[in-house]
Amino acid sequence: MKVAVIGPGAMGCLFAGLLFEAGHDTWLVDKEAARAQQITRDGLRIDDENDSRVVMVNATADPDVIGSVDVVCVFVKSYDTTVAIEGCLSLIGDETVVLTLQNGAGNAETIATSVDSAPIVCGTTVYGSTLVGAGHVVHAGRGSTLVAPFRPAGLESSEKVAGMLELAGVGTRVMPDWQTIVWSKLVVNAAINALTVVSDVQNGRLVEDQDLLKELGGAALEAAAVAAALGINLMYNDPATEVARVCRATAENVSSMLQDARRGKRTEVDAINGYVVKMAHSAGVKVPINERLLGNVLKKGLQGSDRHP
Ligand code: PAF
Repeated sequence: MKVAVIGPGAMGCLFAGLLFEAGHDTWLVDKEAARAQQITRDGLRIDDENDSRVVMVNATADPDVIGSVDVVCVFVKSYDTTVAIEGCLSLIGDETVVLTLQNGAGNAETIATSVDSAPIVCGTTVYGSTLVGAGHVVHAGRGSTLVAPFRPAGLESSEKVAGMLELAGVGTRVMPDWQTIVWSKLVVNAAINALTVVSDVQNGRLVEDQDLLKELGGAALEAAAVAAALGINLMYNDPATEVARVCRATAENVSSMLQDARRGKRTEVDAINGYVVKMAHSAGVKVPINERLLGNVLKKGLQGSDRHP
């Protein structure tokens, strides 16, 4: 398949590398021309537990040179979605599917406002990746990737992207309901990510410290209450137990939000706790812990201009 991955961050570089290695005609779209040239010249470097390898993908800051593709994978930070997709409309032809596996919620809705009629598939992944330099990532963890149709309702587009990902070794399940998968991940991110930033700790610490554990469970229960008020089913019964499980399973992780915060980059707190708070207000649910976490991350002054490593 011909694939364009938009965004040369930790996840964009990892997925572009995996898709290229699987034989897909893969392009990486980077808003910075100099970095795109560097990636085309030197390749992406992917380190994992077994080796360190270089993958020679094509990168460009000019999507017009690519032409239309089978799948556009949007991997930019949620706050960059509109600008990124509007700059890449030339990638979208009659057969193109747009896939978002971005963190946070509201991304598929944002894409839909810029993309007239192309099918949109949204999903979540627990693949972990850390950006350690331009085009250089450490592949930290594997796990399930879930996709579901955002529009239209049929499963064909989701099956197309699942096939593409499966070929690249990314185990992918097609699910019927995008709200269930997005909110099941949102609850986890709302509880873990902002708390790791406010406390400046790796995920595992959140279950070792009793005060943090209480805050963690409380934030998850609040977000789950919003999902329930909106009539959205989650993929687990006990949100507090689920977030504690994820913290233990990713104990050594520096959460994506803490990675951004430590680099002085803008965080995705608006698309995570901000989204929970916005939806809570419209559903009439009280979410004081999420409001406090949102306020505290914003207060740390991390919403300034985006700075790449
Ligand atoms: O955003 C992240 O870092 C991840 O989604 C998670 C699950 C919190 C693990 O670090």
